[in-house]
Amino acid sequence: MNAEDVILRPLEERDFEQFVQLQQEALQQAPEAFGSDYESYQALSLLDKEQQFEMLLHYPYNYLLGVFTPEGRLIGMAGFMCEHTKPKVRHKGRIWGMYITPQYRGRGLGERLLRQLLLSAKEDAGCEQVLLSVATTNQAAYGLYLKLGFLRYGTEYRALKLGDTYVDEHLMMRLL
Ligand SMILES: CC(C)(COP(=O)(O)OP(=O)(O)OC[C@H]1O[C@@H](n2cnc3c(N)ncnc32)[C@H](O)[C@@H]1OP(=O)(O)O)[C@@H](O)C(=O)NCCC(=O)NCCS
Repeated sequence: MNAEDVILRPLEERDFEQFVQLQQEALQQAPEAFGSDYESYQALSLLDKEQQFEMLLHYPYNYLLGVFTPEGRLIGMAGFMCEHTKPKVRHKGRIWGMYITPQYRGRGLGERLLRQLLLSAKEDAGCEQVLLSVATTNQAAYGLYLKLGFLRYGTEYRALKLGDTYVDEHLMMRLL
């Protein structure tokens, strides 16, 4: 399956179960890529998970863009948020939680997902620029962001702490 075969659409309430599965997988598989951690997410009640999820269903300002196979399986996602009610910061959006399940990597899906997110941020949310952060050791994601025109404007040392290990993050931005 190639990038042109997948379906991209914002997640909806009916995607809750698939979202939880993929979120848990992502937190286990790529812990340095996310601010949240697997154990805390696992410890949440079903109701808390549902409430958290529902707060992310406000397209185009605060949502998750999903990558689905033609059969409807969720295989990737990325989050977007923009504080559109605040005049001083609503020109900026933030991208977070970008993830493609390992089996489907290296086929252009991440790139297609990110391109669609950038388009929606500009056209639908009215954003002028987007920000993100990425672990300095994450060659794949950093390469993707550079390819799509993101610039590094700084590095936050010790941005995350996983056990006893600190993770530095590059801070990146792109004008839309
Ligand atoms: C980062 C991630 C989303 C990329 O998804 P993907 O579908 O494999 O990426 P694509 O196939 O669309 O690749 C697009 C570009 O990204 C870069 N890239 C992807 N994988 C790469 C790798 N392993 N090494 C270096 N660059 C890579 C390349 O520039 C590539 O373009 P090219 O194929 O013309 O060389 C995926 O690796 C992933 O989910 N990683 C774990 C979670 C994560 O790190 N998220 C980012 C948090 S900031």
